[in-house]
Amino acid sequence: MDLTRSFVALPLPERIRDGLAAVALEIPSGRIVCAESFHITLAFLGDQDDEALEELNEALAGLRQPHFEIRLKGLGSFGGSRLRALWAEVVAPPELRELQRAIVRAARRAGITLKHRRFVPHVTLARFRNSWVEDAAFARFVERHAGFSLPVFEARAFALYASHLSPAGAVYEELARYPLGFDQAVGSG
Ligand code: 2AM
Repeated sequence: MDLTRSFVALPLPERIRDGLAAVALEIPSGRIVCAESFHITLAFLGDQDDEALEELNEALAGLRQPHFEIRLKGLGSFGGSRLRALWAEVVAPPELRELQRAIVRAARRAGITLKHRRFVPHVTLARFRNSWVEDAAFARFVERHAGFSLPVFEARAFALYASHLSPAGAVYEELARYPLGFDQAVGSG
């Protein structure tokens, strides 16, 4: 049986990805995420078969969630001194968390078991494996970008992705996109 490593995420507008890429370029070490791959993960699904993904697709297509505004502001990290990931913080209204919860419920309805994890909305800029942070260069980078902030944008859709792993890094393929906001899905009357 073929399995697809998959996840649900919010795509980012090109101008926002360009803004992130400009900062990511200056990260002194680690594997930098390329500009077209930046996203906000809402649910990591792991390896799924076609049937589960089809059921999930139907459940996600049936969600009616509002659109909302997002700003990327500030940098954060996972892993403490043993850095695992460096990311841009997401400033978003409660609608983002509600959307994330609705997606988790939809995945469970489709028979997909998700690991329980606190939702920390973020955009990963670089990943680090088995490496200690080189303190001085890293401290300079963090200091230089302490005021990091990008313009507000409107989240108008979320999407289901396949993640194809390769030695050069993961390549993400959009499988389906779902609109946010009621206007596209429900008539104005
Ligand atoms: P990250 O951005 O925090 O690294 C596609 O691989 C997306 O799913 C990535 O953006 C990654 O989140 C997330 N992801 C990958 N492996 C994961 C795992 N084991 N648990 C939770 N999220 C994961």
